[in-house]
Amino acid sequence: MCGIFGYVGKRTDAGVIAIEGLKNLEYRGYDSWGIACKNGSELHVKKDIGPIGEIDSQEFTAPCSLSIAHTRWATHGGVTQRNAHPHLSEDRNIAVVHNGIVENYLELRKDLKAKGHTFQSETDTEVIPHLIEEELKKTGDFAEAVRAACLHFEGRYAILALHTQSNMLVAARTGSPLIVGVEKGSGYFIASDIPAFMKHTRTVQYLDDGEMVATDGKSITFSDIKTGETRPKREIPITYHIEQAQKGDFEHFMLKEIMDQKDSVARAVNQDEGEIRTIAEAIRRAKGTFLVGCGTAAKACMAAEYFFSVVAEHHVNFAHASEFKLFHHFLKPESLVIVVSQSGETADVLEAIRVARDKGAKVLAIVNVEGSTIDREADYTLLINAGPERAVASTKALTGQLAVLLLIAYALAERLKEGKTLLLETAAAINDMLNPRFVERLETLAEKIHEEENLFIIGKGWNYPMALESAIKIQEVSYVHAEGFAAGELKHGPIALIEKGSPCIVLTGNDEVLLDILSNAQELKARGAMIIGIGPKRHDVFDEWIKAPEASTAQAIMNIIPIQVLAYFLAVKRGKNPDMPRNLAKSVTVK
Ligand code: M6R
Repeated sequence: MCGIFGYVGKRTDAGVIAIEGLKNLEYRGYDSWGIACKNGSELHVKKDIGPIGEIDSQEFTAPCSLSIAHTRWATHGGVTQRNAHPHLSEDRNIAVVHNGIVENYLELRKDLKAKGHTFQSETDTEVIPHLIEEELKKTGDFAEAVRAACLHFEGRYAILALHTQSNMLVAARTGSPLIVGVEKGSGYFIASDIPAFMKHTRTVQYLDDGEMVATDGKSITFSDIKTGETRPKREIPITYHIEQAQKGDFEHFMLKEIMDQKDSVARAVNQDEGEIRTIAEAIRRAKGTFLVGCGTAAKACMAAEYFFSVVAEHHVNFAHASEFKLFHHFLKPESLVIVVSQSGETADVLEAIRVARDKGAKVLAIVNVEGSTIDREADYTLLINAGPERAVASTKALTGQLAVLLLIAYALAERLKEGKTLLLETAAAINDMLNPRFVERLETLAEKIHEEENLFIIGKGWNYPMALESAIKIQEVSYVHAEGFAAGELKHGPIALIEKGSPCIVLTGNDEVLLDILSNAQELKARGAMIIGIGPKRHDVFDEWIKAPEASTAQAIMNIIPIQVLAYFLAVKRGKNPDMPRNLAKSVTVK
C-alpha cells in the first residue's frame, strides 16, 4: 500500500534522502509517487505516475532540511499526476501524504468549498491539508491543528503533514503503520516502514493506533490524538542488518528471498521450547482455536488445520481474516485466535483481532515483523525470524509460518523433539535442494510452459492449500491464469477445463493419500493434460518430475519451494518484474 516518508533535522540533503527513502518503499507496491521539499520558505513539489526509476536527484540537491514523500496505491481517484501525493493547503504552506481512507471526505470537501477552498484532485486526501489550514487559523499551533483536523476524519489512516512556517513534521495514525527513526543529535525520520531510513539510523519508535507525533528535528513529542495528552515512548533498536533488506547480487528480491530459505526455515524452527509447549497447552485448553490470515498466510493456516489433525488429532478452525467477523458467535473468552501475518500490518487481520478482543478471546500472533502492530496488539507473539521480506510475493515467510505451525502441532501431540528434528532435517534438505542445478531445471520448465494461458495445480491433504498457494504465487507475479484445486474435487467440475496439453502440476508426498492423487492425475492425463509432478518420487503418470525431497509431515514446506522458483521464472520469461506485480501491494493496510 502507500508508502510514507519524511525527514526533519540538521541534514541539508533532505530532498535526496526522501528520494532514497521512496526507492526503499517501492517494494510495498504503488502506481504514482511524489515529493515536497522546503527550499527557503517555498515548497518544491514533484509528482508523477509510474515507477520512480532513475529520477534526476539533481532536482533535489538544493539545501533542504524538511521533506515529505509518498508512493501512492490508488483508492479514491484514478492514477494521475494530480491525484499523486503530496497534496497542499490553499496557501501552499502545508503538504500532506496519506495512507488509508478518509471515509467522510465528500462531506468535509463540501464544507471546505463553502469556506472558499479549491481542490485540484479527486482524492480523499486533499481535504486533509485544507482542514489543517482551517484549524491552524484558530490556534496558530501546527501540531494542535493536525490533532483538531484528525478529530473530523472517519476511517483508518496514517498521515504525515509538513508545515513550512514552523518547520515541523506532524504524523498521526489510526490504522496504517508509522515508525519514527531517531538519528541522535541530528534529526528524525517518519516512515511507513524501517527500510526507508535504516541506512541512517538503527533506533526506532513506533506510533500506536490513536497516537500522533510532532517534531521540529530537535525534539519529538508523542501524544494521544483524542485527548492531546503526551505519551512516553521507548526507543527500540532494529535487530536485523541492512544487508538482509537488500538484494545483494540477485536481480530480484523474490529470488533472493526464495534462496534465503536455505537458512530461514531453520531460524523459524529454533524457537524456545518452553514457549512452544506453553502455546500448545493454551490450544489444548482453549474452547475453540481459530487460525486466521490473508493470502499466503491464510494458506499456511489452512495447511495447519491438516497438521493439527494428522499430527495432534486436534480440531482447529480456519477463516480468512476478511470473513472472520461472520463467525464471532463462536468466540468466547476461553477461545484462542491465532493470527498469522508476515507484515503484522494487514488491515483485515487487525480487524479479526478486534473481533476476538470484543469477545474477550486471547490472541496469539505468528508474525515476521517484530514491533509491527499485530505483534504489539497480540497477547503473545511468536516471531518466525525470516528476516525482511520485500518482494510482494511472500516466499520465505510462508515456509517459516508453516514450520512454526507444524512445530506447535508436534508440541500439542507431546512429540516436540521429534517435530523439531524433522523440521531441522527438512531445513537442511531445503539447503541442499536450492542448488544451481535445481534452479536451472525449473528455469527450463518455465521456458517450456511460459506461454501457456492456463495452469492447474492439484493437491490433497496439506498439499491442497499448497495447490491454492501455488496458484497465488504464479498469478501474482507472472499473470498466468493459474488455479489450485483439491485433487478429489476435479471430477466434480474443474476437469471440464482440461484440454489436450493443459499443464497440470500435481503435488505429492509419501503419504496415505498418494494413491488417491495419482489416480486423480491419471484422470487428468486421460483427458490430454501434461502432468508435472512435484514430490519425493517419480511416478509413471508424470510427464515431467521435479524432485522435492521426502519430508514426511513437512512435505508441504518442501513442495512449495519449486513452485516459488517456477513462478519467479514464469514472470521473468514473460517479461514481468516479479518484485512489482501490477495492482498489488506488499502490506495491505486497507480493508
Ligand atoms: O503480511 P501478511 O502476511 O498479513 O499479508 C497477507 C497477504 O496480503 C499476502 O500473503 C499476499 O497474499 C502475498 N502477496 C502473497 O504472495
